[in-house]
Order: sequence, then C-alpha cells, then structure tokens
Amino acid sequence: MASKGLQGVVIGQTKLADIDGDAGELIYVGYDIDDLAHHVSFEEVCFLLWNGRLPKQAELTELQRQLGSQRALRPEMLELLRAFPRDADPMAALRTAVSALGLYDSDADDISDEALRRKSIFLTAQVPTLVATFHRLRSGAEPLPPRPELGTAADFLYLLNGEEASATRVKTMDAALVLHAEHGMNASTFSARVTAGTKSDLYSAITSAIGTLKGPLHGGANVEVMHMLREIDESGVSPREWVLRTLDEGGRVMGFGHRVYRAVDPRAKMLREMADEVMRESGDAHWLELSDQIRAVMDEEMQKRGKKIYPNVDFFSASVYTTLGIPMDLFSAVFAIARVSGWTAHLLEQYANNRLIRPESEYIGPRGLTVEPIAQR
Ligand code: CMC
Repeated sequence: MASKGLQGVVIGQTKLADIDGDAGELIYVGYDIDDLAHHVSFEEVCFLLWNGRLPKQAELTELQRQLGSQRALRPEMLELLRAFPRDADPMAALRTAVSALGLYDSDADDISDEALRRKSIFLTAQVPTLVATFHRLRSGAEPLPPRPELGTAADFLYLLNGEEASATRVKTMDAALVLHAEHGMNASTFSARVTAGTKSDLYSAITSAIGTLKGPLHGGANVEVMHMLREIDESGVSPREWVLRTLDEGGRVMGFGHRVYRAVDPRAKMLREMADEVMRESGDAHWLELSDQIRAVMDEEMQKRGKKIYPNVDFFSASVYTTLGIPMDLFSAVFAIARVSGWTAHLLEQYANNRLIRPESEYIGPRGLTVEPIAQR
C-alpha cells in the first residue's frame, strides 16, 4: 500500500535531530532547541551538527576564522550574479549560484570525509554572501566585501543592508539561524540525501535541496505568510473574518499546520518570543499584532473543528524577518542560509554509510495492451 507523501515511512537513521510531534519538542544531537537558541550561536550549532558535540572555545574560534575567511566570492561568481536578471526569484538565483560554485571546485567530485567537511564549511560561508550580493545587485547597489571578524548573522545583515545591525537584531538573526538549521528528514534534506545516494557530488546535492526548499509548502511558506498578512491588511475586513472565510472556502492559512507536529512548533514559540524584543526596538509591532490576532482566531477555530493545526516555524518568522529589514522575497533564501548546515551534516552521514535511495511505486495503470499501428490509434 503506497504512503502518499511518504507519511510515516522511516527512510534511514540519523544522529542529527529528532522531533516529538505530539509534545512539540525538537532536539539537535540531544540538545533541546530552546536551550540551543538561548545559549549558543549559529556557528556552535554548525560545529555540533558536523561533529556530534558542541565545540570547545579554541575549536569555535577556528571555525569562526574558517567561515569568515571563506565568505568572499570569487570574481567569476560576482560576474555571474551580475548577469542574472534583476527580477529573478532569489531562490532560483541561489540554486544556480550554488550549482556554479561546483564548477570552480577542482575537488567537486571528491566525496571523502575530509573533502566533504571542507566543502560544508565553504558552502555555509558562501551562501549568505551569495544571497546578500544578489539582493544588492538587483537593487542597483554595489556589493560589499564580507567582514571576516563578524559572525554569520551580523555579517549577513551588514552585507544586505550596508550598515552594522544593532546587538538585538544580530542576536535575533543568530537565533533564527539556530532555529532553522536542522529538522530531520524534511523534504529538502531528503532530496539532498537522494542525490548524494547516487554518489553524486555535494554541490549537486545542495542544489537539489535548494530547489526543494523553494516550494511554498516547505521553505516558501514564510513568503506566503507575509503575502497573507499584507492581503489581510489591505482587504478591509477583520483578521477574524478573513480567516473564517478562508477556512470555509477550504483554503489554507499559511504558517499553520505541519506534517509532523500535532502541537505548537517549538520554533514558532521561540520566534514569537524573539519578535517582542526586536519589535520593541524598532517601534513597529504592526505585523506582530496582526499575526497574534490570526493565531487567536485559528486556535479557537481549530479547536471547534477538532483539528490539531498550530502555528509552524514560518508563521512568526515572516514578521521577525520583516522587522530585521529583510525583503519578503528573500525569506526562503534566509532559511537556506541556516539549513545548509543541516543539509551538509546529513550528507556527511549519507556518504559515510551510503546506499542508493530507490523506493518503489504502486502501479495503477493498465496492463496487457498491444501497440496498434499509428494510423489506427
Ligand atoms: N490551514 C487550514 N487547514 C489546514 C492547514 C492550514 N494551514 N494545514 C492543514 N490543514 C488541514 C487540511 O485542510 C486537512 O484537512 P482535511 O483533513 O479536513 O482535509 C488537514 O489539515 C491535513 O492536511 P494535509 O495537507 O493532509 O497535511 P500535510 O501533512 O500533507 O501538510 C502542510 C502539511 C505543512 C503542507 C500543511 O499544513 C500546509 O499546507 N500548511 C500551510 C503551508 C505551511 O505553512 N507550510 C510550512 C510548513 S513548516 C516549514 C517546514 O518545515 O518547511
């Protein structure tokens, strides 16, 4: 019997993350996401995912140095980004750019553990610069050189906006990266593993993952949330009316529901907390207030309708990113900046214990037909 959407199918083992969907809990390598988001940086999470333990200070300093020194784009990549159409979808631009990075790596096909670790650091360093540089070029601004002394979150906000972000903004961005770094066998990670399972190279696997993350049911949902918030704002009807009408018409309220969680996504809880602080600093709580109103109606309605549909990670990330000055159509690319750490960690696992991933399908088409000459069909 086929499982539509592979729901409930366990396709392999991992030491990276586990989700308790009923309790609304998420762990990375044994650590609760709440603990990590409050107490460690994105770089520490990268080390944790790649090495199975948190770094000592000297190890963290070395990783920060390596990431910082590998953020600058080679001139050919800058030329390539300049040639992209200005109205290109940022995820399509990122997918193409990451694929192109592989062309310039003479070791692209080396899938030894050492080469994979080197490339994991390189891609984690390059992706934020690619996203920010594409954005500056399409806005008619000159790209800025990365600042190796800054952490990933601070440097990304600097490269994007052309000025150093406040400590609150950097802390919020960093925690958002931690929350999005890893999430078990999600669609994009699965797709990266399928590509690696053929012993194709790491750049191809990450390119597959970016193409998969791009869809509105996965990484693209945070963009859809912002579209929805704007639509409600401009509709002239109350959030309650809008939500009820959408549900009655069989539509989906973006940022709600999840294949695995049957409780509030713990990442949504954290983002809601972070939103308060960053909005207080910016003095603009409009999107957050609107999000809270939608959430209240959804809570009430889902309870009435007996459905376990709760806010997911994308629901509050939309308003948080907007307040951080990140344009709406870059949200999924920001997700990719974080998730490249989880993807590469899964790829280290996949290559180390590889078997071709090749499921089967249940054939429901006809049988026993014979070919008729073309004139008689
Ligand atoms: N609004 C209203 N109803 C919903 C929603 C929603 N957002 N999500 C699910 N439902 C209902 C759906 O209509 C269905 O009802 P019924 O059984 O009466 O037909 C039921 O819940 C089950 O839905 P499903 O589509 O079978 O569930 P799924 O596991 O295939 O889909 C999902 C999960 C995330 C695709 C879906 O909840 C959805 O489309 N949500 C909106 C998009 C979204 O926010 N996506 C981000 C996911 S989290 C980020 C990530 O991990 O990438």
